Amino acid sequence: MTIGIIGSGAIGSAFARALVRAGIAATIANSRGPASLEGLVRELGPSIKAGMREEAAAADLVLVAVNWSKLPAALTGLPDWGGRIVIDANNPIEAPLFRPIDLQGRASSEVVAELVPGAQVVKAFNHLRPDLLAGDPRGEGGRRVLFYSGDDGAAKAEVGALIDRLGFFGIDLGTLRGGGRLARFPGGPLPTHNLVRFD
Ligand SMILES: NC(=O)c1ccc[n+]([C@@H]2O[C@H](COP(=O)([O-])OP(=O)(O)OC[C@H]3O[C@@H](n4cnc5c(N)ncnc54)[C@H](OP(=O)(O)O)[C@@H]3O)[C@@H](O)[C@H]2O)c1
Repeated sequence: MTIGIIGSGAIGSAFARALVRAGIAATIANSRGPASLEGLVRELGPSIKAGMREEAAAADLVLVAVNWSKLPAALTGLPDWGGRIVIDANNPIEAPLFRPIDLQGRASSEVVAELVPGAQVVKAFNHLRPDLLAGDPRGEGGRRVLFYSGDDGAAKAEVGALIDRLGFFGIDLGTLRGGGRLARFPGGPLPTHNLVRFD
């Protein structure tokens, strides 16, 4: 399975570091183009390639980690998603004001799903600080917990398997609407807690 990352900031690069730790390759993209990512990919090593947004978006599984207001621009004009998996790592809140966006009762992933028609959207990697995503998932002795939710069982199984390969303990919260609300930031009960599963 090929992996793409759209957004190379705090969360996109933390996800890339987690992939590197597990020896998994990916293509990462931002708005400014591959040349601006030279330093990052040099630091991450040869398994992570810098690409154009379209190259990252062509992967079998694409993690999107872009500032909320920039998501439409980041996801517009891309080829058909054709059932491929999009991991929505985004939250409807933005620096510098950190004022929650009013989604009028919708789950944020439902809004994101409309920007990636035909994709199977799984919400994940949105509820922890970037350093906890990038750091050793066994740093506390057990396995750091990552929550995920989605409406397609097969897509969730793929994301769950990836979370497992990365060394985390994944917990399926259910649907985008129901699970997404539990992991919603801000407002949901689960984000920001660094929870660890001990076997
Ligand atoms: N930081 C956190 O603690 C945290 C935790 C969980 C979830 N999140 C969520 O994750 C998402 C990303 O947050 P972040 O902290 O990683 O933000 P960030 O550090 O500001 O990075 C945002 C990234 O989005 C890219 N981007 C913007 N417009 C784009 C476009 N049109 N095409 C492609 N890439 C584009 C930027 O590229 P350029 O720099 O080239 O413009 C940058 O690499 C947000 O939705 C946030 O709510 C953040």
